[in-house]
Amino acid sequence: MKTSNESNLSTSLSMYDRAQSVLAGSVGHDLRYALPGPIYTARGKGGRKWDVDSNEYIDFLVGNAALLLGHADQEVVAAVQSVVADGTHFGNDHPLQLEWSELIQQMVPSAERVRFTNSGTESTLLAIRLARAFTGRPGLLRLEGHFHGWHDDVVHGFDMPFQEPTCLGATPNDQRDVVCLSDRQIDRIDDLLSQQKTAAVIVESTGASWGRAPLREKFLQSIDEITKRTGTIFILDEVISGFRFGAAGVQGVEGIRPDLTTFAKVVAGGMPGGAVVGRRDIMDLMQKNGDPHHDRHQRVVHFGTYNACPPSAAAAIVTLKRIQSTDVTHRVNTLGANMRQALQDLIKSLGIAAHVYGQASLFHVYFETDSNRLSDISEQADVWIDDPARLKGMPGHLVARYQQLLRYHGVDLMSGTGGALCTAHTEADISEAISAFEKVLIKLLDEGLVFQI
Ligand SMILES: Cc1ncc(COP(=O)(O)O)c(C=O)c1O
Repeated sequence: MKTSNESNLSTSLSMYDRAQSVLAGSVGHDLRYALPGPIYTARGKGGRKWDVDSNEYIDFLVGNAALLLGHADQEVVAAVQSVVADGTHFGNDHPLQLEWSELIQQMVPSAERVRFTNSGTESTLLAIRLARAFTGRPGLLRLEGHFHGWHDDVVHGFDMPFQEPTCLGATPNDQRDVVCLSDRQIDRIDDLLSQQKTAAVIVESTGASWGRAPLREKFLQSIDEITKRTGTIFILDEVISGFRFGAAGVQGVEGIRPDLTTFAKVVAGGMPGGAVVGRRDIMDLMQKNGDPHHDRHQRVVHFGTYNACPPSAAAAIVTLKRIQSTDVTHRVNTLGANMRQALQDLIKSLGIAAHVYGQASLFHVYFETDSNRLSDISEQADVWIDDPARLKGMPGHLVARYQQLLRYHGVDLMSGTGGALCTAHTEADISEAISAFEKVLIKLLDEGLVFQI
């Protein structure tokens, strides 16, 4: 396996040079920014990918967790190829849109109605608008650290420090009636929602940033109860967990029924696309009935040139059918558990003050770097911490160096210290990745960026 280092990333780096004079921000997505430059990926197959310098990576980014079946799955590629031969996009509804939405309805019990969007950001935007329209209330409650895309209602509050604005140019939370609380403040949440001025509470189903800061136990059940009691709309953001944690996502695992759910990524088979699903009475706010007054003044408006475009529908149908009728999610969840265990065993054998965690097919690593805490730690179990500010607040230079070294050893992560697995990964990929982690962790110890117990 040819892996990268600073000297054999030359094609990627020269492309990055070109990008500086044409791409705003030099990259196509904030998370792609990396030092000395991002990798330019040429192709992928299964759980691996190759950059333009022919370096090979075990891929734990898998299309920002969109590709549950891995890269270039044969059946997905064939389905997409077969529809694009007849036209890529019409701006009309397409028969595959129906099959796609019926599959979602069969798999997710709360999906009384389905509306397709083009991304997770569009899904959360539409769900929040529907909730405000349905309740006639302006407020939105979001949770510290949780990520729901980049539109103004949700852009502040996902990054540390959570109460400070995240983004220039975005309307401040107080002007948008958005309150941001911690999931540790359940009494304040109850008080706020009891005032019945809040349209919706939106929650990342995994806890903040695909589980980097997990939710308190039974938090979703508490929100389910409080929202039902106060007439607040419960929006569960399953953009990451939907169809990945199981056929019915986290709501299926936890036995809850949110009013609205937002999907993207796996729901569209790894192609561009998303969906809002939920209660019929809420979703019906988008219905036209031919009465000009109703259609102009009493509806929620939603457009989107590419909504449910045929190639996305084709990829989605293959993917969702595989999830519905085989044991793929069980298998990928087992791989995820094995990855977490192998990484934890490695960390223990090296005596590093870190702990590995995550749910389903996701993994995260927390490195303890706080000198006060380090002096109190005498065994591995003491490293465990559940404070979102710490879990999301590891030193930036440590995280960047860890990601960079892993890339040099043939492993690409999703973001932070963690990654996502796909069904095409194997136990051999995990063993190979663990050897890369070993080299990287030894180097980080050497560089004084991580610490031993
Ligand atoms: C939980 C969650 N919601 C929303 C989004 C936004 O999705 P998109 O990047 O498709 O706009 C993401 C993206 O990673 C996400 O993880």
